[in-house]
Order: sequence, then structure tokens, then C-alpha cells
Amino acid sequence: MSKSAQSEYPPLSILPAHVGIIMDGNGRWARQKGMLRLAGHRAGVENLRQVLRSAVELGVPIVTLYAFSTENWTRPEDEVRGLMRLLAEALEKEVDELHKNGVQLRHIGDLTPLSEILKAQIQAAVNLTRGNDRLIANIGFNYGGRQEIVSAVRKLILEGVAPEDLSEEHISDRLYTAGLPDVDLVIRTSGEFRISNFLLWQSAYAEYYISPAYWPDFDKDEFYRALKAFSERDRRYGGLKQS
Ligand code: IPE
Ligand code: IPE
Ligand code: MG
Repeated sequence: MSKSAQSEYPPLSILPAHVGIIMDGNGRWARQKGMLRLAGHRAGVENLRQVLRSAVELGVPIVTLYAFSTENWTRPEDEVRGLMRLLAEALEKEVDELHKNGVQLRHIGDLTPLSEILKAQIQAAVNLTRGNDRLIANIGFNYGGRQEIVSAVRKLILEGVAPEDLSEEHISDRLYTAGLPDVDLVIRTSGEFRISNFLLWQSAYAEYYISPAYWPDFDKDEFYRALKAFSERDRRYGGLKQS
């Protein structure tokens, strides 16, 4: 990962501190090529490596990647099993390299229903890379925005926080993304215009960018286009534009 690669692209006036990516379209990518959906997921995992490198080169410090939602369990059993296997394989093959490249891997979501082996692999990757600071990469696996808010509220009830003391910070600090800034930009691939339960709380004032590319085809040029679009947005947060 070289920093100088950023000069391939004209510099941008402002970059998002935190980018969320809904990695969608693996199945359609595969079907379009006459392949099985799982081949699309495999290509999607391959692409993830490229995109993480691009994030570093383009100067994005935090990415959150939506890999498996709490709703994706409703897919056919063999697809769900295949996705679990792909995550295990990716962790096995990629973690050392990511660690060498200074990537801090984190998990967001509920680990409970995952196999003991997968849980241990995820925890090992998180522990190994904890001290890295070149890029923070949150992987949403069995992640759902509503489930995340419910789990935060459950913690608050257990802590006995009084209703009159409750603030937005109380919730933010108990989400999986506690301590990280809210997401500034959410990118969704494959041309779909919906949020599908991703970072519901953290995206309150996010900008959206819909890429027509299926996830396996989402490359550095397209990532840059999303960042450029972001840099041209006028974010007002409910206030008025300065004149
Ligand atoms: C995204 O690709 C990956 C996951 C949701 C696991 P899809 O599997 O949703 O691909 P499409 O949307 O069916 O093309
Ligand atoms: C969103 O994609 C979830 C992930 C990318 C992990 P889906 O393909 O599951 O979402 P819908 O079904 O189009 O809303
Ligand atoms: Mg999809």
C-alpha cells in the first residue's frame, strides 16, 4: 500500500472521516456471467482486499463494511453456509497481510449465533490487529441496525440509567461503533436505493452515494468518484448555508 498512489487522482477538498459501504450485487454479478451466486460472493471477498487498499491510498481513515445482515439468515441454507465458509477462509488467508499493512479489524454485530470456530477466528483477528492505526475496518457480520439499537437499550436498562438522564451519547456509546465518529458517507453498490438496516443511528446525517457497479466490480476509480461526489455536497445539518 503506497501513499503516493493517491496522486493518481486530483486531491479532494474534503474527505469523509468514516465511510460505510453496503457491498451489494454479488449474486447478480455471478448470474449475469452464468455462474452460481456463491461465485459472486467469492469475487466479492476478493474485491474487499482491493477496496481496503484503495481506502488507505485515497486517505479514508475508517470504513464500515456490511457483509452479512441479520436478515440474510433468511436466504437458502447452502448460501448462508457458503457465506460463513467464505468469511472463515478470508480470515485465514488475509489477516496476516492486513495486519502487516496496518489495518485494525473490528467486528460489528452479534457474534452469538456464529460457530465457535468462526467466533474464535474473528476474536483472534480483532485482538491481533488492535494496535494498528493506518485504517480501521469494521466488518458488519450478522449486523442489523435495529438489533444494535435494541442491544444498546438493553445495556442501558441493565445499567439502571434513569429516564430523565438519558442522552443521545448514552445510546451512541453503547453501539458497536462506540468511540468512532458517525458515518459521513454511505456507499451502496448495485444501484439499489435503500438502507437495508445498515447503521441506522450513525447515518442520521450521512451523505449517500449509489454506485451502479455490482460489488465485485466496485474499484478504486469508482471509490474515488464516490469521494468526489461527497466533497461536492453541501452538508447543512438542518441549519442554513453560510453566505
Ligand atoms: C451482497 O450481495 C452480499 C450479501 C448480502 C451477503 P447479494 O448476495 O445481496 O447480491 P444480489 O443483491 O442478490 O445481487
Ligand atoms: C444488504 O444487502 C446487506 C448486505 C450487503 C450485507 P441485501 O441484498 O441483503 O439487501 P436487500 O435484500 O436488497 O434489502
Ligand atoms: Mg443484495
